[in-house]
Amino acid sequence: MQLKNKTMLITGASSGIGAATAKAAAREGARVLLLARTQAKLEKVAAEIQARGGEARVWPVDVSQPEQVRQVARQITDEAGAPDIIFNNAGAGRWLFTEETEMGEAAEMMAVPYLAAFYVTQAFLPAMLRRNSGLILNMSSVAAYLPWPGATAYAAARWAMRGFTEALRADLHGTNVRAALIVFAKVQSDFWAHNPGSEERVPGAQAMIPVITTEQAAAAVVRGIKRDRRVIMTPFMLRVVLGMDALFPGPTRWLLNNTGAKRPLNQQKGSLGVDKA
Ligand SMILES: NC(=O)c1ccc[n+]([C@@H]2O[C@H](COP(=O)([O-])OP(=O)(O)OC[C@H]3O[C@@H](n4cnc5c(N)ncnc54)[C@H](OP(=O)(O)O)[C@@H]3O)[C@@H](O)[C@H]2O)c1
Repeated sequence: MQLKNKTMLITGASSGIGAATAKAAAREGARVLLLARTQAKLEKVAAEIQARGGEARVWPVDVSQPEQVRQVARQITDEAGAPDIIFNNAGAGRWLFTEETEMGEAAEMMAVPYLAAFYVTQAFLPAMLRRNSGLILNMSSVAAYLPWPGATAYAAARWAMRGFTEALRADLHGTNVRAALIVFAKVQSDFWAHNPGSEERVPGAQAMIPVITTEQAAAAVVRGIKRDRRVIMTPFMLRVVLGMDALFPGPTRWLLNNTGAKRPLNQQKGSLGVDKA
């Protein structure tokens, strides 16, 4: 799909990959609708796009809240029309071992990205189906193929994004509305500052895959849209590693587990780390 004169809605557009993609899509001539919770950050991204002659509008919303999503979708439809492209990108989540993860935090990690992607998609899908065109892009991660220790709820939510995309594709069979999955390994973004303690848990094996910038991530998304890709995956070494995993899952899993985060010593070998009196 070409981006010129298309309306592209991007969640998580106030920062990182979402903000970079908004700028890249606007340079291709798309009208971008920027969604996230922090209005000031959204306005900064929009101002940058407008200063270069692009079209951008901001819609502050917490996409984990279904009622807020319903309301903002109504406003967007009235004021800007239903989008041609939805990029479900908003996401957060600290990398934690299972027993370190508070129940509420596990639920929040499922709420954004997965439930948020479901709510946003559902809000605009009837209009896309009536028009019989549209593209839904879902941000996942290499964690949805090859999880590593110490990021259980994070990885599970990215598998949910992968599952949602596959199920959506089946669901949309026979229509002209498409769904695509986006898969990156490490991207240098504010994600690491927003989710403290996670960067320290990147497995050593990540060194096989070059870290990309948010601009490189955005360029891959734009290229993938223009080439109608079902899976947008970059850099090339990520494909190589996932190919190796498909052929030899034992060694790849061994490498990730052995270069990944370790529980604190007092919690290994069955001890729960409880001090003995
Ligand atoms: N960085 C990486 O290495 C990497 C790799 C693969 C996949 N990803 C995925 O890519 C996505 C974007 O990550 P990033 O690196 O760009 O991180 P980021 O800089 O932390 O951006 C996250 C974005 O999500 C928004 N967001 C979070 N919770 C929200 C909510 N409840 N409602 C609305 N917006 C919300 C944030 O905006 P507000 O705080 O203003 O709401 C922000 O714009 C995430 O889903 C992440 O898991 C990242």
